[in-house]
Amino acid sequence: MRTINLVILPGDGIGPEIMEVAKKILNKLKKIGFFDLRIEEALVGGASIKDSGVPITEKTMNLAIKADAILFGAVGDYSFDGLPHHLRPEAAILGLRKNLSLFANLRPVIVFNELLDNSSLKPEFLNGLDLMIIRELTGDIYFGEPRGIKIIENGEKVGFNTMTYSESEIKRIAKVGFEIARSRNKHLTSVDKANVLETMQLWRDVIEVVSKDFADVNLDHLYVDNAAMQLVKNPKQFDVILTGNIFGDILSDQASMLSGSIGMLPSASMSFNNKGLFEPIHGSAPDIAGKNIANPIAMVLSVAMMLRYSFKLESAAEKIELAVKNVLAKKCSTGDIHKKGWKILSTSEMGNMIEKEMEQLC
Ligand code: IPM
Ligand code: MG
Repeated sequence: MRTINLVILPGDGIGPEIMEVAKKILNKLKKIGFFDLRIEEALVGGASIKDSGVPITEKTMNLAIKADAILFGAVGDYSFDGLPHHLRPEAAILGLRKNLSLFANLRPVIVFNELLDNSSLKPEFLNGLDLMIIRELTGDIYFGEPRGIKIIENGEKVGFNTMTYSESEIKRIAKVGFEIARSRNKHLTSVDKANVLETMQLWRDVIEVVSKDFADVNLDHLYVDNAAMQLVKNPKQFDVILTGNIFGDILSDQASMLSGSIGMLPSASMSFNNKGLFEPIHGSAPDIAGKNIANPIAMVLSVAMMLRYSFKLESAAEKIELAVKNVLAKKCSTGDIHKKGWKILSTSEMGNMIEKEMEQLC
């Protein structure tokens, strides 16, 4: 049987709680006979800072480099806010993205029928929505140099960051975007700010060049401010949204509200050769950490994405997704998506219930 070599990085806040659920689901699939598992687990983020003074050790980075895929929980802890950026918990995930060349971040916006009325938008705008946000993940203002805070002549402090994209960086994410659009409804919307920023003019120019190889995909361009508006005005107009790192960060949080809760959305960060890191798009949620109330569904759906994109185990991925759907159909939820008449489950109870549903599907 095939062995899957995984590195598991639970991180901070609710990360360890939702990762327990992910492990339970993986072990269930192993028991059913989909694969054999080899798992290495390590600390990242604030947990790693407390243990060794750095957000990710070289040893952990090397484990991640060698693994077939990485499951990541969440990082972030207010107690480290005073540290320089390269020593903060977030540096762990940013370092992994950069060092592993995880340049293509796929953030599907999944709306379960059972949660249509959980969103703050009217159900008719969401019914049947199927949107994929593709966010470039290793460039842009997140990594551009120079960056810093300097003191100018009058003694005032000035902060500065650099938005930068090279042609080759834009080209490689554009190809991913067009290929994914080609496999779906053949409509790609590239989001930029070409009316103001040179970096984004280059973005648009390169997207146009790449589009010549994808004549079967309908391409349009939107400025990011307009895209933000259209996303809540009529989200069903979109099929695939392709955008840079910072705009993708913002638009994907916004889009998560279409699903009813940010606790529902998974993500895949892909490099070459199907290698990927899989994480929920929500953060560490320190306010609810340790209470066993966090929604583990985004984490569980991230496991499904891993099985689909890194290991091509489509049927295992579908089993997970269907099990989640079945739990919702039974009107069971965690507090974030709870509504009248539904039963509230804790994080671990939700995990047990998804596991039970999977058993019935196999
Ligand atoms: C995300 C998060 C991260 C980001 C943080 C934790 C660094 O918000 O994955 O969207 O800004 O990319
Ligand atoms: Mg974000």
